[in-house]
Amino acid sequence: MTESLHESAHFMKMIADFMPGMVGYWTRDLRSTFANREYLNWFGKSTEEMHGVPVQDLLGGELFRKHEPYIRAALAGQPQKFDYTLALPGNEIRETLVHYIPHLDGSEVQGLFVLILDVTERKNMELALVSAAEEHQRLIGQELHDNLGQQIAAIAYQAQALERKISASKDSDPGNADAATIAASIATQAQHAVMQCKHLARGLLPLELETNGLMSALRAFASSISSTYGVVCDFVCIDDIDIGDDELALSLYRIAQEAVHNSMRHGGARNLTIALKEREGLLSLSISDDGCGLEGLTAKGATAPGMGIGIMQYRALRIGATLKLGPRAAGGTEVLIERQTR
Ligand SMILES: Nc1ncnc2c1ncn2[C@@H]1O[C@H](COP(=O)(O)OP(=O)(O)O)[C@@H](O)[C@H]1O
Ligand SMILES: [Mg+2]
Repeated sequence: MTESLHESAHFMKMIADFMPGMVGYWTRDLRSTFANREYLNWFGKSTEEMHGVPVQDLLGGELFRKHEPYIRAALAGQPQKFDYTLALPGNEIRETLVHYIPHLDGSEVQGLFVLILDVTERKNMELALVSAAEEHQRLIGQELHDNLGQQIAAIAYQAQALERKISASKDSDPGNADAATIAASIATQAQHAVMQCKHLARGLLPLELETNGLMSALRAFASSISSTYGVVCDFVCIDDIDIGDDELALSLYRIAQEAVHNSMRHGGARNLTIALKEREGLLSLSISDDGCGLEGLTAKGATAPGMGIGIMQYRALRIGATLKLGPRAAGGTEVLIERQTR
């Protein structure tokens, strides 16, 4: 190696070492041939030990299996970008953003550039935003339900009383018939407005959840989905589940809302099942659909999906649960949230 080549290689390595993330290169037969300092530290290996290591050995069976679909897609030439939650020993959780970028030579993929960034802080911030938004929604919902709704209900009541009064005196003054009709119309419109307030409040603040708990709220939600969209949305729960923790119940409810929303909007589902069960210390909530499946999501590759899945993942993380999103054997998609209860 000439002096200048050596210098430039050294310079490149220095740049990579100073990058605040893991930078690596894998050959197309999945061996690691370059790793910056952070990458080596992470795996606790020296440059020599890292060189040529099969990626499967490096990541270990489980991690490799989880990343394999992305790795395969990148090897097929599609850049991949996805969030991954790493659980470290000692219960420490790190949120990462993983990039697999194909090294293309013409149309041939030679290998993969790997960039893994620690985004834990940003994710925590997003989480704080989600809970602030949640609190805000709750307040508006409560205000709509308890205050505005009640006031309009009072107007409806008074308009009805007025109508009765005018009707009673109609005989003495026939001109009052019109006034009675107007009062009746005010009462009807005000009643509609009360219904709308309730409807809005229900979306913002799942009252059913607060008063009757998760099972009952999910049942009501499933039936409202069936009637709103004209699909079959079943709620299945044979155990008698009483979730004492409000935050846990609300998070599960919100995850179900987002998953069902996705099934309708992206999957075009006709049949959905929301299933809640608790067995042998494991609480699970599954939302499955018979829609078009997740093909669209992986094909999107590098383009960022919406925030919905990210927020579902956060909610799961915050309640100490795992969330899996995947294809269903019978076609369609399933979102599965599982949490140990003891
Ligand atoms: N049940 C589903 N069926 C089909 N595709 C889905 C389903 N759930 C999610 N997806 C795919 O995942 C993408 C990301 O979903 P999400 O993060 O909720 O964002 P958004 O709903 O804002 O697009 C969707 O754009 C869609 O391609
Ligand atoms: Mg969504």
